[in-house]
Amino acid sequence: MLIEASDLNMIFEGGIQALKGIELSIQRGEFVSFVGSSGCGKSTLLRILAGLQHGYSGELTLAGMAPLDARQARHNVSFVFQEANLLPWRDVLGNVKLPLELRQDPRMDSEVSDLLDLVGLREFANAFPRQLSGGMKMRASLARALVTRPELLLMDEPFGALDELTRQRLNEELLELWERDEWTCLFVTHNVFEAVFMSQRVFVMKPRPGSIAAEIEIPLDYPRLPELRASPEFARLAGEVSAALREHSE
Ligand SMILES: Nc1ncnc2c1ncn2[C@@H]1O[C@H](COP(=O)(O)OP(=O)(O)O)[C@@H](O)[C@H]1O
Ligand SMILES: [Mg+2]
Repeated sequence: MLIEASDLNMIFEGGIQALKGIELSIQRGEFVSFVGSSGCGKSTLLRILAGLQHGYSGELTLAGMAPLDARQARHNVSFVFQEANLLPWRDVLGNVKLPLELRQDPRMDSEVSDLLDLVGLREFANAFPRQLSGGMKMRASLARALVTRPELLLMDEPFGALDELTRQRLNEELLELWERDEWTCLFVTHNVFEAVFMSQRVFVMKPRPGSIAAEIEIPLDYPRLPELRASPEFARLAGEVSAALREHSE
């Protein structure tokens, strides 16, 4: 198992219980999503896994270690947020290379260019963030997250600000990259359709206190092609996730 959590709890100062009794086992190479209304602890869970949030109780290991130790041992975890957070004074290549520079990793620009190719940005290597559309900024952010060859990619509502068509394209592109390189992905979204389209399992969370209310298997084969979205099986699974969300919201 890459991630194991048992009775994971997080209570913030002031008494807000953001997570209660979380049980999770996630294998290396899995693609799983977390859906749930605002405030049910999705971001807190990802931050804890990234080693960015302490103060939790219960058992939690990432590659057999506590997340803070895993972070110190330079276990390769990358985080992608809804805002692309690119440095405005660096071009796309410069932004994507940044994590390598910070690690003094001497990888060649040619290899970074190959990654830009994979996310469809080769021709924009020397463009600046202000010249990019929202979807292109997100592709650059994704390339920057993948450039360190992470074993775990944590994505917190990454495509939430994009229009529907761009979101669908990025869902397809992200899956292609995942099938190719086999990192583990934990994907947080409000969007039931993107969760079902990409994932092997969907965890439905509920608020106050944040906990896992349901786990739904998505037994669809990969590669998952755009046509899948029009299939009855897809509609059935999306309906199942929606029903679980409704049942556990207030
Ligand atoms: N740093 C913090 N201090 C206090 N409360 C927090 C903090 N971060 C999050 N919370 C609270 O914890 C709960 C879960 O938040 P969050 O993980 O951001 O939920 P989600 O990402 O599902 O919207 C919310 O009630 C939120 O207000
Ligand atoms: Mg959040």
